[in-house]
Amino acid sequence: MDSQTLMMLSEKYIAHTYARYPILLVRGKGTRVWDKEGKEYLDFVAGLAVCNVGHSHPKVVKAIQSQAEKLIHVSNFYYIEPQIQLASLLCQHSFADKAFFCNSGAEANEGAMKLARKYAKEKMKGDRYEIITMERSFHGRTLATLTATAQEKFHKGYSPLMPGFKYVPFNDLKAVGESIDAKTCAVMLEPIQGEGGVNCPSEGYLKGLREICDEKGILLIFDEVQVGMGRTGKLFAYEHEGIEPDLMTLAKALAGGVPIGALLIKKEIAGSFEPGDHASTFGGNPLATAAGVAALTAILEEKMLENCQEVGDYFLDRLKRVKEKFSFIREVRGKGLILGMELNMDGGSIVKEMMRKGFLINCTMGNVLRFLPPLIVTKREVDQMVKALQEVFNGIS
Ligand SMILES: Cc1ncc(COP(=O)(O)O)c(C=O)c1O
Repeated sequence: MDSQTLMMLSEKYIAHTYARYPILLVRGKGTRVWDKEGKEYLDFVAGLAVCNVGHSHPKVVKAIQSQAEKLIHVSNFYYIEPQIQLASLLCQHSFADKAFFCNSGAEANEGAMKLARKYAKEKMKGDRYEIITMERSFHGRTLATLTATAQEKFHKGYSPLMPGFKYVPFNDLKAVGESIDAKTCAVMLEPIQGEGGVNCPSEGYLKGLREICDEKGILLIFDEVQVGMGRTGKLFAYEHEGIEPDLMTLAKALAGGVPIGALLIKKEIAGSFEPGDHASTFGGNPLATAAGVAALTAILEEKMLENCQEVGDYFLDRLKRVKEKFSFIREVRGKGLILGMELNMDGGSIVKEMMRKGFLINCTMGNVLRFLPPLIVTKREVDQMVKALQEVFNGIS
């Protein structure tokens, strides 16, 4: 079937929750994807920070193939070998002592919020259930994670929202301190806000939050769904700050493109989840966790963190140079390979023009171009993309 017919069928049969670009991608390898007509694109979206190891990484493909031949799914009533391997690896490489597996970022955040409430009931004085989140955050689309997401545009049409959330501005320690009261059990945030426009924490902000949470005896939850798994140049973004959260959520890049989510937990808190308290049929199933082991191993063994740091610094510098040339660029920011370019105009047409030239980029918040290439991207590929971007900008100014 040709792509025009397929797109027509998509419009007919698939719920319109996405405004799609008119291309149909059928193949990917490394940093590149191809559409049905054979046109090649250099991918600076990477499935929205999912394909950190690149498309169809051989280790991930092999792990999926061999696991699929052995065992695709069994219930969590039984022990699951790749699940145990992935949990061990995650705990060995992070602050955490235990992992809970699920299938998406939203589900991981739901788990974190449920555990925070349960832990508070058992271990904190009084009735603490409220969670403080940050303006311009994004935590998912389920009712609770949508409520945690402090952006009104996502709330429209879904009231009444969940009780038990308070919002404060990002990068404002004083506001957090003032918002904590006898009901607060946790502060939850993305160490770098992704969907909210690639907003970075100011110097000392995350450390300050850790101190406030310790002082008040409440939990600090990091949502590393977008920035985890090497995206910032460390395996987890919290590592840049010399602090640790109490809970951390992962999803997106964790299994190299196979749906998965995880909640990583410190030992003293993990005890508040007992059998029956929380669950997920597919959570940590053999196929997804085998892919997860392969993806994590690839990140660590193939020096992707080093490449992310080196190429990320280079990329940031190139974007800053572009900013000097065009007055409509407000700011360039980010860390590793999550970079944003804020414009003083809508970025939608730029994304389309870049696509025409064979480059996939994203725009968030209407005016922030976001770049999330696979961690294996090269300086040459960055140069190609930046050159094309400048050509598009030249056509505007
Ligand atoms: C920081 C963050 N948290 C949570 C989510 C939700 O993840 P999912 O779409 O897998 O539910 C996202 C998705 O973009 C995200 O960026």
